[in-house]
Amino acid sequence: MNKNFESIFKEIKNLLYLGAKNRKHSFHTPTFSNISKKMTLESRIVVLRKFDEEKLFLNFHTDFRSPKILDLKKNNNSSFLFYDHLIKIQLRIKTISSINNQNEIAKQSWDLTQLSSRKCYLTKKRPSSKTNIPEDGLPKHLQGIDPTKNESEGGYNNFAVIQNKIESIDWLYLSYSGHKRLSINFKNNIPEFSWLIP
Ligand SMILES: Cc1cc2nc3c(=O)[nH]c(=O)nc-3n(C[C@H](O)[C@H](O)[C@H](O)COP(=O)(O)O)c2cc1C
Repeated sequence: MNKNFESIFKEIKNLLYLGAKNRKHSFHTPTFSNISKKMTLESRIVVLRKFDEEKLFLNFHTDFRSPKILDLKKNNNSSFLFYDHLIKIQLRIKTISSINNQNEIAKQSWDLTQLSSRKCYLTKKRPSSKTNIPEDGLPKHLQGIDPTKNESEGGYNNFAVIQNKIESIDWLYLSYSGHKRLSINFKNNIPEFSWLIP
């Protein structure tokens, strides 16, 4: 095994771990992309909630009523894009998404979710619905305040954990002395490495 490969893979895992744990880390808010029912490409920022190093999952939370749920049910091919301008590392990660709603995985994450985050799941209308005025869709009495724990439970059915199984990672490191690019493909969670011309 090439030692360089292993140390780069270790660094990648550390960055994903830090991204999930640290709100201020640049890898905390990657771009997540998938293909819509209409076959258009959809990209948006999400919060990286968890990196499971053993199972190779990247998790984020979303509203079960949002259009991306139906799109991911139809086509579960997806990808994450990360970049940190200080360390000059880009990660392009291809994933296969699965949706967890009202199951054990959703329940475990919900129990750890703060009231301020639970609030997002209390909108009366579904995300992406049209509205006559610019508004967040939340009940008026929740303006500027968190719901009580009891009230927040009303959002549970709308809460989904999207688990994204890593299929491959494209690592790009920009350097004046020579850019480097490594491709990692996983077969049964075993990484296979190959250098690419950047
Ligand atoms: C910093 C930031 C973090 C976000 N985190 C999430 C998230 O974790 N989950 C999510 O569904 N949307 C998140 N959003 C909103 C999405 O980018 C997007 O606007 C929303 O999910 C609607 O996307 P859709 O129409 O493709 O469903 C975030 C936006 C920003 C700017």
